[in-house]
Formats: sequence, structure tokens, C-alpha cells
Amino acid sequence: MMKLGRNDLCWCGSGLKYKKCHSSFDEKIEEYRLKGAIVPDRELLKTKEQIEGIKASAKINIEILDYVAEHIKAGVTTEEIDQWVYDITVKNGAIPAPLNYEGFPKSVCTSINNVVCHGIPSPDVVLKEGDIVNVDVSTILNGYFSDSSRMFCIGVVSPEKKRLVEVAKECIQVGLEQVKPWGFLGDMGQAIHEFAHKNGYTVVREIGGHGIGLEFHEEPWVSYVSRKGTEMLMVPGMVFTIEPMINMGGHEIYIDEEDDWTVYTEDGKPSAQWEVQVLVTEDGYEILAW
Ligand code: MF3
Ligand code: CO
Repeated sequence: MMKLGRNDLCWCGSGLKYKKCHSSFDEKIEEYRLKGAIVPDRELLKTKEQIEGIKASAKINIEILDYVAEHIKAGVTTEEIDQWVYDITVKNGAIPAPLNYEGFPKSVCTSINNVVCHGIPSPDVVLKEGDIVNVDVSTILNGYFSDSSRMFCIGVVSPEKKRLVEVAKECIQVGLEQVKPWGFLGDMGQAIHEFAHKNGYTVVREIGGHGIGLEFHEEPWVSYVSRKGTEMLMVPGMVFTIEPMINMGGHEIYIDEEDDWTVYTEDGKPSAQWEVQVLVTEDGYEILAW
């Protein structure tokens, strides 16, 4: 990181002198670092222009999920959902981020019932009454990434599954309440796992959220089983996802040996996940994609 002079132009692109812009902000971060906190590199703090780019990408992500919400029902295959996602993305001049990402073969993840995440759409998988399904959409527009996911209940689902889906959504709200500058990601992680446990559920440990914006997955890795006051310091300009996977049974998971992607609950019980993409602002947070 280059050390700026007080009269140099600020690194954030504001056009102001450093001393009038981010100089005291950088000093504050440095104080936290000296006290032993994990602090974000400057590269993780998005400029105004980058935030505009991410928002434009997120707008498409939201449009796609709104379309899925209107059309998903029993009898639809996950392959059809993949086609919807691909078509709307491309119509908007964007690219589906999952497609060919580390070999992922489709444009979206569709994860049903005991599938925790990274389910691969297939013409053989037909949604049926009583299923709960996560549709996880990620978009690249002009090099800017967005990522969010929602749960859908197909027809009438059991009260147990319905409650799981609702509590998983409430976990997002509980987590968001902890997102503010000069707090720690662990504050959010602890609030989420305590809330999930209070409701009789467990939280997946091995898979978490991530920084996002200029890449699909940036620093930091975001855990939802972390402890208050630990993990990275939250600073205005950081963008990351909140996407806890909430299990009805035990937290243990395994990955499909054949496709190397699909993540299942070890005990075969259902799992639910919602995902939002948030920006840390001067006084709290802004949801970019949901
Ligand atoms: N949207 C998922 C995430 O939250 C993407 C997983 S990678 C994929 O990171 F290739 F499966 F899409
Ligand atoms: Co994500």
C-alpha cells in the first residue's frame, strides 16, 4: 500500500486532498490494526464508481430472482430455472457468474430440501409440492459481481419446513442488525448462530459468505459460527454477503462424490439459506442484492 502525502489526491477517487478526505479514516483503521484486529486492505473498500457498478449488476440479480419468484411451481424442472436465469442475464448484457466458475456447469445453483447449497440444475429434477428450494443467482455486469439467493416453498410445505425457511430468513435480519462500521464480522456471526440455536437449528460451519464486487469471491471469508469481537473489522465501503445455511438437524455436511459440487446434510434433514449482498455505509448498511 502506497503511503500518501497529506496534500496528495485521496486514494478513493473523490478528487479531494488526502488530508481532507480519508486520512483520519486510514489512521483509525491503523489504530485497530495495532490493537491486533484483522482490518480490510484498501482494495476491499469500494469507491463510489465501483459501488455504482455493483448496484447495476445487483439490479439484474434482483430482476432474475423476482422472475423466478413469479414462475416457480410444482412441475418445473431445475433445468428450466437455469434457462430463465441464463436468458434474463444475457438479455441484460450480463454474464451468469456460476457458469464455468471452477467448472460449475450451469448458470445458477438450485438446492432442494436436504441439499445445503451448490445444487446443479438438471432436466431430471422436477419440483414437487412440499419441496423447499434455494435459488442462488450471481451476475457479472461490466466486471462487477452481485450474488443473492432466496428460498421458495413449492405449494403447501410441512409446518416444520416452513418454519425452517422463515427462521433462515430471520437470521438475515438478525445478522444485518450487527452490520455497522467499526463493528466486527464476528458480531454478526454470533448473533446469527445464537438465533438459529435458540430456534432449535444448527448452522453449517465449513461454508460461508464472502467479500464480493470486483471478483466473485473476495476477502473476507464470512463465518456464521464466529464470536463477537473477532474476525474482520467492518469499515465503510466493504461489500460482502450474508448467507448462513441453517439445518433442521445436525450441522454436518458432505459433498457429492460424483459431481463434486452438491452439498448435502449428513443426516438427510432439510437445510435452508437466504443470501443478501450488503455494503457497509457510514452509519450502518445498505442491502445491494437480496
Ligand atoms: N452463489 C454461490 C455463493 O454464494 C456460488 C457458489 S459457486 C457456484 O458463493 F459455482 F456454484 F456458483
Ligand atoms: Co455467495
